[in-house]
Amino acid sequence: MTELPAARIAPSLLSADFARLGEEVAQVVAAGADWIHFDVMDNHFVPNLTMGPMVCAALRPHTKAPIDVHLMVEPVDTLVPAFAKAGANIISFHPEASRHVDRTLALIRDHGCRAGLVFNPATPLSWMDHVMDRLDLVLLMSVNPGFGGQSFIPHTLEKLAQARARIDRWTTQGGQSIDLEVDGGVKTDNIARIRAAGANAFVAGSAIFGQPDYRQVITTLRTGITQGDAIRAAA
Ligand code: DX5
Ligand code: ZN
Repeated sequence: MTELPAARIAPSLLSADFARLGEEVAQVVAAGADWIHFDVMDNHFVPNLTMGPMVCAALRPHTKAPIDVHLMVEPVDTLVPAFAKAGANIISFHPEASRHVDRTLALIRDHGCRAGLVFNPATPLSWMDHVMDRLDLVLLMSVNPGFGGQSFIPHTLEKLAQARARIDRWTTQGGQSIDLEVDGGVKTDNIARIRAAGANAFVAGSAIFGQPDYRQVITTLRTGITQGDAIRAAA
């Protein structure tokens, strides 16, 4: 099996203390987080309402870590320039929420950000087929989007392996590298299997912010990732 790209841990602010977001960001990065996952919900595409570009801009000075914006909004395009201006580094969206997926992906890169496409549990990977050259990140939802604290849907492991195979085929043929991220129900007790299935970026909300010691959880998550690498190497 191929060796996976370096692992990135992306705590989701959805489970952070909203009254102290700046401190939460600084603390979780000091504890070893690689990216900050920023969930944007509009009470239209998903049944919940969170935060927008103003909050992203307010957090930007609190960390140098990449801000990984996950748009669960419809329509998408008007928010892309707003989040780029607010300091986002990665912007990903759901293909069902954009009339013109190819155009939205290009728009994200035109604004200097890395572009990602998000797959709901029932969304087929075939959405990738004609836009591989426009992708910097593929995000597989392992829960239905809208809420933190849900359980990991086991079928995601199979889907991750399929997405990993597509990405590896693409890069072997000379294509650019594409991160494979997973979001929803990622915990210390399942991250080894998720890594073994091929993910290299891991969103974790309640697993990290629900605990008193962020460093301890992140270290345990990394141990699980190393175990996942060993499972792959032995397969
Ligand atoms: C769900 C969000 C996730 C969520 C993950 O719609 O996209 O990022 O915060 O939370 P946990 O890790 O608690 O499942
Ligand atoms: Zn998310």
